[in-house]
Amino acid sequence: MSTAVHTAPEGGLSSGYGENPAAAGSERLLSVDRVSLEYRTRERIVRATHHVSFDVYRADRFVLLGPSGCGKSTLLKAIAGFVEPVSGTIRLGDEPVRGPGADRVVVFQEFDQLPPWKTVVENVAFPLRVARKLSRAQAKDRALHYLEKVGLAAFADAHPHTLSGGMKQRVAIARALAMQPRILLMDEPFAALDALTRRKMQEELLQLWDEARFTVLFVTHSIEEALIVGNRILLLSPHPGRVRAELNSHQYSQESLGSADFQQSVARIHRLLFETGTGNQEQAREQVQA
Ligand SMILES: Nc1ncnc2c1ncn2[C@@H]1O[C@H](COP(=O)(O)OP(=O)(O)OP(=O)(O)O)[C@@H](O)[C@H]1O
Ligand SMILES: [Mg+2]
Repeated sequence: MSTAVHTAPEGGLSSGYGENPAAAGSERLLSVDRVSLEYRTRERIVRATHHVSFDVYRADRFVLLGPSGCGKSTLLKAIAGFVEPVSGTIRLGDEPVRGPGADRVVVFQEFDQLPPWKTVVENVAFPLRVARKLSRAQAKDRALHYLEKVGLAAFADAHPHTLSGGMKQRVAIARALAMQPRILLMDEPFAALDALTRRKMQEELLQLWDEARFTVLFVTHSIEEALIVGNRILLLSPHPGRVRAELNSHQYSQESLGSADFQQSVARIHRLLFETGTGNQEQAREQVQA
């Protein structure tokens, strides 16, 4: 068994995607401490997460995994600074998060996150000019550099509506990486893609990470995607979102798919997520299919 629950990181089984940064004594970048998040509607208060705590270290590929409604997106929004915790604290480095900032960039699931009137290169360059204060030429240079990284240099002058879903997501990833945020926040970025494109995008993300070693907080409800993309996984249970367990998964990559060890980890995570005696397991199984 290769995943470890609430234990010190395991050694030994490292893959091409490096060892566990927490184990390597890497710098703690993000600290989420007993964070509760709520939505207040006219009729009622919905508690989205309850006392959720975790730490993300520099160069982590940290995954939030759990079924629909466990507060993954809300947590990401809180870290991005769009939602304020009702209790608990979120710190980036030494500073509490007090609102949105260019040090955190979000990539969403939707393909329509690119302004359609701008070309691909303008889409990537524009936030660099506004938030990073780069000159027009500098912004364009950096934009082209990152478009090259995601294999889209040839489409720099195209408009988003002429691209496929996968290509649009690559532009969104290039735009986010070009900002060189301290942490990249990704909310189910590949969930709306077909299975083959999704696999390819996972692989590309890992290749980009291998080159640049950025820190990413990645939300998914696919167990397999979590194991492939992440080096650490936080399992959340829903209504309200609470931490079920924290696992190490740095030993897995796409080559692990189908191996007995990988399948055992999938089954184990499934058990951890759903065998809680809530009596609602069938519904939960439908919500979380890897
Ligand atoms: N704008 C809102 N107003 C009221 N309640 C909300 C709102 N957005 C989310 N919620 C509630 O907060 C809880 C957490 O929602 P959230 O979207 O964070 O879950 P999630 O884990 O991202 O789910 P999914 O996998 O479906 O994206 C849910 O119970 C949801 O109904
Ligand atoms: Mg969500």
